[in-house]
Amino acid sequence: MSQPTPAASPLSHSSQATSTQPSTFTFQSSNDPLLRAQPHRLATAVIAHADQKPRERVLLYALVFALAPKRCLEIGVRWGGGSRIIHAALSDLSHGVLVSIDPSPSLEFDWTLIADRATLIIGSSPADLGRCLAAADGPFDFVFVDGDHSEKSCYADLEGVAQMTTPGANILLHDAFHPPVDRAIARALQSLPFADVAMPALTRNDGLHVESGRTMTFGGVRWLRRK
Ligand SMILES: C[S@@+](CC[C@H](N)C(=O)[O-])C[C@H]1O[C@@H](n2cnc3c(N)ncnc32)[C@H](O)[C@@H]1O
Repeated sequence: MSQPTPAASPLSHSSQATSTQPSTFTFQSSNDPLLRAQPHRLATAVIAHADQKPRERVLLYALVFALAPKRCLEIGVRWGGGSRIIHAALSDLSHGVLVSIDPSPSLEFDWTLIADRATLIIGSSPADLGRCLAAADGPFDFVFVDGDHSEKSCYADLEGVAQMTTPGANILLHDAFHPPVDRAIARALQSLPFADVAMPALTRNDGLHVESGRTMTFGGVRWLRRK
């Protein structure tokens, strides 16, 4: 059973850890702790057992770390690796909370290790998103959509997310190259208050889907912004 990175864990190589501790900044006028935050837990993106490619995991850590959201939502938890990565970035920022929802997670670690700023809701999106909103004590400004990958469910997730976010919120969708997810996003861009930002991870995977035994397209991350 893998365990989350300890709270103060540095990067795994001491030379890298040293390089994240510059003695000077080129711009020193601000003491804003968010500007001075260091990515001490970046290694979590590499070692957490997430149902994502390594490039996608690093992107998830980097976007949360760079955007410094106040309230994050993850739809679809499975083994909990995505939650650990988001929690690691928020912990490095000493800022923000995460609410994760899944009707039947298969956690591979003790959630209490990340419960300082992460809440697990056993429930289904979109029906139980109101419970997530209550747990976060306000609307979300960062959402990672990675639940049921059917077109109907993914579109329903986005309908729900539109209700739980404020303008400017960033929404990432995993497996955006999967045709049903791609169709749901296309419909959402037509009829829901979202703008297309980019496809920041071109991690298209046309391989064998282990669970179904069929060859199909998965992978990729699409970035939307709430209008
Ligand atoms: C691809 S996995 C999530 C992987 C995880 N985000 C990660 O980064 O490792 C999909 C998960 O979505 C969950 N799921 C299915 N329907 C859901 C729903 N309506 N609401 C929330 N989660 C759902 C499944 O139980 C499954 O654990």
